[in-house]
Amino acid sequence: MITYYDPKTEPAVNQPADLTKDLGTPPSKSTVQVSIQIDGVDIVVPEGTSVLRAAAIADINIPKLCASDNLEAFGSCRLCAVEIEGMRGMPASCTTPVREGMKVQTQNPKIAKLRRNVMELYISDHPLDCLTCPANGDCELQDMAGAVGLREVRYGFEGKNHLDGATDSSNPYFSFDDSKCIACSRCVRACEEVQGTFALTMEGRGFDSRISTGQNNNFIESDCVSCGACVQACPTATLTEKSIIDNGQPDHSIITTCAYCGVGCSFRADMQGDKVIRMVPDKNGKANQGHSCVKGRFAFGYATHQDRITSPMIRDNIEQDWREVSWEEALAFAAKRLNDIQEEHGRNSIGAITSSRCTNEETYLVQKLVRAVFQNNNVDTCARVCHSPTGYGLKATLNESAGTQTFESVMEADVVLIIGANPTDAHPVFGSLLKSRLRQGAKLVVADPRSIDLIDSPHTKAQHHLKLRPGTNVALINALAHVIIDEGLEDADFIQSRCDDASFQQWYKHIQDQRHSPESTMEITGVDATALRAAARLYANAENGAIYYGLGVTEHSQGSSSVMAIANLAMVSGNIGREGVGVNPLRGQNNVQGSCDMGSFPHELPGYRHVSDKSTRNLFEQEWDVSLDCEPGLRIPNMFEAAIHGDFKGLYCQGEDIAQSDPNTQHVQKALSAMKCIIVQDIFLNETAKYAHVFLPGSSFMEKNGTFTNAERRISRVRKLMPALAGKEDWQVTVALAKVLGYEMNYEHPSEIMDEIARLTPTFGGVSYERLEQLGSIQWPCNEKTPLGTPIMHTEDFVGEKGKFAITEYVATPEKANKHFPLLLTTGRILSQYNVGAQTRRTENQVWHDEDVLEIHPNDAEDRGLSDGDWVGIASRAGTTALRALISQRVQPGVVYTTFHHPLSGANVVTTDNSDWATNCPEYKVTAVQATKVDEPSQWQAEYAQFSQRQAKYLKNKNGGEIAKT
Ligand code: SF4
Ligand code: SF4
Ligand code: SF4
Ligand code: FES
Repeated sequence: MITYYDPKTEPAVNQPADLTKDLGTPPSKSTVQVSIQIDGVDIVVPEGTSVLRAAAIADINIPKLCASDNLEAFGSCRLCAVEIEGMRGMPASCTTPVREGMKVQTQNPKIAKLRRNVMELYISDHPLDCLTCPANGDCELQDMAGAVGLREVRYGFEGKNHLDGATDSSNPYFSFDDSKCIACSRCVRACEEVQGTFALTMEGRGFDSRISTGQNNNFIESDCVSCGACVQACPTATLTEKSIIDNGQPDHSIITTCAYCGVGCSFRADMQGDKVIRMVPDKNGKANQGHSCVKGRFAFGYATHQDRITSPMIRDNIEQDWREVSWEEALAFAAKRLNDIQEEHGRNSIGAITSSRCTNEETYLVQKLVRAVFQNNNVDTCARVCHSPTGYGLKATLNESAGTQTFESVMEADVVLIIGANPTDAHPVFGSLLKSRLRQGAKLVVADPRSIDLIDSPHTKAQHHLKLRPGTNVALINALAHVIIDEGLEDADFIQSRCDDASFQQWYKHIQDQRHSPESTMEITGVDATALRAAARLYANAENGAIYYGLGVTEHSQGSSSVMAIANLAMVSGNIGREGVGVNPLRGQNNVQGSCDMGSFPHELPGYRHVSDKSTRNLFEQEWDVSLDCEPGLRIPNMFEAAIHGDFKGLYCQGEDIAQSDPNTQHVQKALSAMKCIIVQDIFLNETAKYAHVFLPGSSFMEKNGTFTNAERRISRVRKLMPALAGKEDWQVTVALAKVLGYEMNYEHPSEIMDEIARLTPTFGGVSYERLEQLGSIQWPCNEKTPLGTPIMHTEDFVGEKGKFAITEYVATPEKANKHFPLLLTTGRILSQYNVGAQTRRTENQVWHDEDVLEIHPNDAEDRGLSDGDWVGIASRAGTTALRALISQRVQPGVVYTTFHHPLSGANVVTTDNSDWATNCPEYKVTAVQATKVDEPSQWQAEYAQFSQRQAKYLKNKNGGEIAKT
């Protein structure tokens, strides 16, 4: 007897080898088991399973074309017909659920004849160009023709057909060849059910059924967001990746992890030798379950772009040609400069910045280099400028600096509260999952100054959009909590059993004060009190209420307060510690969680343990054979200040582009220009590298082994697909730099770095590459108590303690609109570009967003005489830049919005030095500005364009460059 297992819930160690098999229809969630017999084999499956799936589990493979196990059964092709004892005719097995005692026959001459007839009809309307078709060898139609034993087509090919169907090549990554379409509608259903965009429809009926991209003519002009779900679903070559058309079929595949956002999608890299020809989302990836967005799926060409720098380079000063040198010379040059600086300016005059784009192992090594070799704690991470308040705020309340759930958990949420996040643009695969839950009936509340897509998407609408003024999150979240207390909606049992009573009593007294009521805070937030009360009731009364938040929460002067206020809200309503609830920070970059976990902050060793803690220090001192500094080091903004002051002279910057991503660009430029030795390790000459003296070529995620940790705390393997273009993987560069500085780091493989992390970090105690191979991925904590990891946190306690309520008084940001700067600028991301754009700008994604624009409300535009496309000067207290105007109702009057994906946009020229009170996370989301119509880019933009041109020339001259002997 074969007993059904569910690959999604059963531990991976109990799963069979072939998890990629398409079982035809989605799994049933029923706990009631049903016994049936298929072709004489006894099978036990959950009630609601289709006959097709039950058979597939038993390795009885019924032919199918319109069915796929990530889509609801549709029953259109009739190829999966079977005979069932006691039932008339030959029902489609994909749409027939199992019944207790059912006896099914999948093969007999009658069934075979029917299937051959079906296939004959398909093939008679299909171009017979298999040998030259890009899908040859990877085509379900071809496979099914073989499976049913089709040998001849009796109808001929002269009749009415679709063989002259047109090809739509408008999308940069895939094409649509109508002549090959069998109208199975898998693409339409994938776009609806998996992606949730509803860009495709099936037009016409019967023979005239054709796929249409709505009222538009082609894909590029349609609502399509290029996620690739339809391409994956298509059983023929109708929808095919252009890379497959150009290169042919892959010869092998390797599973790895996307290097873009914090969703951490798992991908199957399809390869020809060392060349990646396609990235296909991995069906077994627990973060993405076979789905992807345009970036991970298609925008991987940057990794082998001609702009890659693959040789080390050095120069004396930044107005000099680069000189290509050997690794040895570059490292010796860097080491001498760092040593000289420390000798002259003291031990604390150098430091390093780690990157959330790099692996856990690489990040761990950089902080080890700083602490063990530089002998200080001057290491910080780019998480400083995005989610450092999450680390602080969640540690202070929930006792752990991490989100509490799996992404999958949202499928159990009844009410979802999104604060300051835009999942469909910034975390698209999670956005799609969320939309599918909303289509099932979950309710949505969005708190955002701007109208994000989720507020009104096809078949999903937010119940409440709390359109608050930028910078007033704390007042708004406090008001939500006030309503819960005021209306007696708190979860008294949860508070009593799980939370610290003293902190609750104090907080209760604080939050019940009338100054936190929606009516009182309306003045501050601009949010209607009735709507806010209704939203609070909706969340608090939900069986399961889940909160998701993003940089719209953290990147504020009260970022940490907002995070703590969110934790308060979840605790007071009892929404922690089970499926469907929780506090979920949507991390920006792929490894933000990991870079924080790995001890990248200047005050914390790996695992969030303070450097002043002697016993933790001792542990590391013994392993590393050094003595460690007990004083926290400099944060990134402190490094800049110290550099301008003349005390900080040397920086090792791995994979991070601070010149573009950090606020108040002119201040950053001044700090960088003041240093004697900037070592940039990157794959491109990024903006920071223009200020560098040493360039160490980096390796892309395709060229190395390692791990990333996503927003769910999920550690996933990054696997080497090709040799490192520069000859060294990033971790090897750090090891080599340590060696020339006189410290040996002895690793043969990144797995050994992970073993060291596991030895020294209790939450990672059970993590190893071996276990990752067994389980696929692991959510930390993973140790002796939880060897399979921890999908949901705080199920019984808050890491051995009680949850602590925090007082979160609203304090207005000093960044206020006034008559000189009457508008508030807020920033965000767009789907097709990623962060500073260094990767996506070097891909075809440019077709969707080749410049940053300023969204401005029609009233504000009219006041300034602005039309769409006009240059608009944006001046703040920090600086001036200019962008083209996009007049949009998405922003409210008084608020303007832009993205920061292009260096010359200078979005950060206008953002200020204001930052979070606890963590110094910059206040990117609130800048008071004036916007005026101008004729040309700003002076900064003109000067920076000239600087960039000079730097390009220094790069071009790299082999003719001279450098003084040091
Ligand atoms: S690529 Fe994605 S969004 Fe576009 S049509 Fe296909 S499934 Fe829909
Ligand atoms: S494009 Fe592909 S998936 Fe869509 S209906 Fe045609 S054959 Fe089916
Ligand atoms: S959602 Fe994020 S991790 Fe997934 S494919 Fe897109 S960019 Fe990559
Ligand atoms: S696979 Fe069942 S009807 Fe097409």
